[in-house]
Amino acid sequence: MHIKALLTERIETALAQCGAPGPAIIKVSGRPDFGHYQANGIMALAKKAGQVPRDLALSVMDAVDLTDVADRLEVAGPGFINIHLNAAWIASELASDAALITTSTTPLRVVVDYSSPNLAKEMHVGHLRSTIIGDAYARTMEALGHLVIRQNHVGDWGTQFGMLLTHMQDIGANSVDLSDLEAFYRAAKVRFDEDADFASKSRSTVVALQSGDPKVRGWWQQFIDISLSHCQELYTRLDVSLTPQDVCAESSYNDDLPVVVADLTQAHLLTESDGAMCVFLDEFTGKDGAPLPVIVQKSDGGYLYSTTDLAAIRYRNKTLNADRAAYFVDARQSLHFRQIFSVARVAGFAPERLHLEHMPFGTMMGKDGKPFQTRTGGVVKLADLLDEAQARATALVKEKNPALDETSARSIGNVVGIGAIKYADLSKNRTSDYVFDWDLMLSFDGNTSPYLQYAYSRISSIFSRGEVDRAALSGTPILNEEAEVNLGLSLIRFQETLEQIAAEGFPHHLCAYLYDLATRFMQFYETCPVLTSEGATRHSRLLLAARTAQTLQEGLNLLGIRTIERM
Ligand code: ARG
Repeated sequence: MHIKALLTERIETALAQCGAPGPAIIKVSGRPDFGHYQANGIMALAKKAGQVPRDLALSVMDAVDLTDVADRLEVAGPGFINIHLNAAWIASELASDAALITTSTTPLRVVVDYSSPNLAKEMHVGHLRSTIIGDAYARTMEALGHLVIRQNHVGDWGTQFGMLLTHMQDIGANSVDLSDLEAFYRAAKVRFDEDADFASKSRSTVVALQSGDPKVRGWWQQFIDISLSHCQELYTRLDVSLTPQDVCAESSYNDDLPVVVADLTQAHLLTESDGAMCVFLDEFTGKDGAPLPVIVQKSDGGYLYSTTDLAAIRYRNKTLNADRAAYFVDARQSLHFRQIFSVARVAGFAPERLHLEHMPFGTMMGKDGKPFQTRTGGVVKLADLLDEAQARATALVKEKNPALDETSARSIGNVVGIGAIKYADLSKNRTSDYVFDWDLMLSFDGNTSPYLQYAYSRISSIFSRGEVDRAALSGTPILNEEAEVNLGLSLIRFQETLEQIAAEGFPHHLCAYLYDLATRFMQFYETCPVLTSEGATRHSRLLLAARTAQTLQEGLNLLGIRTIERM
């Protein structure tokens, strides 16, 4: 049940009856409150309708029908209505046959553009945020019943490939030489900068590649395949749900680029400026007020990143038939997306029906306040970062539980280490920069993945200690104690949390929710004995524990983080 939606609907009906139609804004009040939601939008509506806010709140309170869900309503402050949910209603929502997640009755086709690294180089930490946040969003949308179409818009085209392919041929490179793509790229770049002959050979290679020379295309394919397999290895290690089928590379739009330009010409949108073909839209001006162009074709005839993105929008609309396209890309590309979204609208490539959303994120910073780097100032390879996470987590796990054998310590360490990196990123509001800090993310206290994984395994151990089969539990819990009501309320808020992520694309709300749930469980566990209680109370508390474990597991799963039964 989506409680906020239910309360909103009921309050809005009452508002209309009281002559102040408008949106009711429902909020969840502060954490310690007992089953308590708050309607917050009444003051503004009263002003609009020329009524006294408190009077309107009182009439809404009289008119609203919430007898089935609420025990008590009260007007608070200048015109809020506090809604105290009924414990029996919360319990009935938690009856064992109630689904953990209710899927949408109006499923959407949603394109999620994420990860999308440049294949000329090795994946580095800069790709981590898009990959992790985009994946959590894709999984959540899918769980809510939407049809998710993952699009890994990898950069596999462009002038760097001339240099890379030439170097590859010169040294007769095989896949071993390409196993360290970073070093390979650097070596090619040094030659390109220092050796005029090599540079000119590289330029002819680009021309040959672009004109479809089969030999060069063959080299290119070999290079791309190797680079993509590196990415796929990392996705697997990171538990990211992208597969090779989700790759829709920049090069796949090549044939459509001249058509995009021709269509823009036909729509009278193109202006030639210094030999380049540009779209000028009034809404985009530079600092000096001069119009800012979106360049779609350079004076040498070459196409750009923007041209490809316009072709991609068209494909996502016409072929993929998307209702929504969400782009998880660095905030530094905000202007690019505003521009291409606007061009796509005026050119008719994206009808109003298709929602285009850039979901930006900030930079990953080091503790020194500078963008995250190696000690020597180089880019941190993703593979190295994951190695370090697993090593650190394994050491911690051994320290916590010295009796563990090496294999178990390592396998738990892997799950904890990867979870920690992902959660540290997911739990921050994505729009801000965030500081990468090993000690914080690997802590077993606070809003971290190890804390939640540990909470999950503690709940699991209740069932193993009590020899209770949690899958076989059925019935409706009884919510008597305050800690039970609080836990119950937290449990039924899972749905509205997921829907908030679907609407806004901020997975940190799910993290905050899971942390709150785990905290409430711990409060419940301290005050309400489970295994040592008896009869109906024991059964009810086991039900609550089982539902908590299930919600934590599913919530972490939607974030792409695994749980372990025993830690
Ligand atoms: N390859 C680009 C980069 O590394 C990101 C692509 C994002 N997606 C898109 N449709 N432009 O910056």
